[in-house]
Amino acid sequence: MILPKLQNKLYKIVLKPILFKLDPEFIHDLFIKIGVLLGSWSLMRWKIKMLYQFRDSSLEQNILGIHFTNPVGLAAGFDKNAQLTKILPDVGFGFQEIGSITGRTCHGNAKPRLWRIPKSRGLIVYYGLKNKGCKALAKQLQDKTFNYPVGVSIAKTNDQRTVTEEQGIKDYAHAFKTMKDVGDFFVINTSCPNAFGGEPFSDPLKLEKLLERLDKIETNKPIFLKIAVDTTNNELDQLIEVAKKHRVHGFVVANLTKNYQSTLVQQEEVPKTAKGGVSGKPMQQLSDDLIAHLYQTVGNKFVIVGVGGIFSAEDAYRKIKNGANLVELITGMIYEGPQLIGEINQGLTKLLQKDGYKNIAEAVGANFRK
Ligand SMILES: Cc1cc2nc3c(=O)[nH]c(=O)nc-3n(C[C@H](O)[C@H](O)[C@H](O)COP(=O)(O)O)c2cc1C
Repeated sequence: MILPKLQNKLYKIVLKPILFKLDPEFIHDLFIKIGVLLGSWSLMRWKIKMLYQFRDSSLEQNILGIHFTNPVGLAAGFDKNAQLTKILPDVGFGFQEIGSITGRTCHGNAKPRLWRIPKSRGLIVYYGLKNKGCKALAKQLQDKTFNYPVGVSIAKTNDQRTVTEEQGIKDYAHAFKTMKDVGDFFVINTSCPNAFGGEPFSDPLKLEKLLERLDKIETNKPIFLKIAVDTTNNELDQLIEVAKKHRVHGFVVANLTKNYQSTLVQQEEVPKTAKGGVSGKPMQQLSDDLIAHLYQTVGNKFVIVGVGGIFSAEDAYRKIKNGANLVELITGMIYEGPQLIGEINQGLTKLLQKDGYKNIAEAVGANFRK
């Protein structure tokens, strides 16, 4: 990594003020196009790697047979159609989720469907699971090898045809089966706040039926469940009991908060037309607390992926010490710049050293271990 502090300043003083004047979805799409272009050119990939990537053996872990060179991943929803898998390892990420991918093509909700709320350091997201669908993506990704672990996030197609329980389960199962030869692990996203018919599979009884169906599909890949950040401890306890009975290896904690009336969201910057879930700082504490409760309840019986409001190495480390084996982000990168990933990894090595840990795995759950 070269001069991260200068990169940080350049992003915040020069680039971000321009980007933040333009439509957020347009900028998102533009970054995907730039990322695809950079990824297709090996010289450019090498330059990006020199500029951004930070590596240190203390950040490496083997989790469920998968090797992670560092614990910082890209969360689901940024690379919906798996277009950035070539460039993101060079940007410094240790893994990523692609998708969420649904049973059929999803055009998403009507625009506008993405808003910045800079004073609150968050985004309001109402994409509604826009993606090409499992068939096209399986075809695009078949026989592809990735330079780092890739998780396939599966969700239910966002339309009226998947509203009944049976149709919903069928849709998940179809996407799961179709994507079964792609990537290294699955994430079952039952917590999208923006899909037609709500989040029926956050209900323990319905989740039980969904997992029963998925248990029947052969795969060697680990399976994680992505839960809503608004899940209460009591609700989480019920989901854990269901997960224990099925082929679930971990939890991704967590998806967007629906509570943008929260005191952490500066109300004056919320556009009247905005709806959806909120990412970033407003969900940070909720996610930290849920990770802590999950770890205190299950210890290391399940893998925990901590996500929500990571803007610095300290934010990532807090989640790790609360019990997260891995962390993910999107919003932090948008507010701080792409050098944030290297900065977090470098910062983590310093925090580990300060606490006397030789490897990131030793810090997982340290807040609750004697
Ligand atoms: C633009 C955007 C799109 C998202 N789409 C998805 C999605 O398709 N599937 C999913 O599981 N989560 C999705 N999320 C939620 C993120 O994966 C993550 O849980 C949330 O943004 C919190 O992390 P952050 O504060 O670092 O952004 C999306 C978030 C953003 C900002």
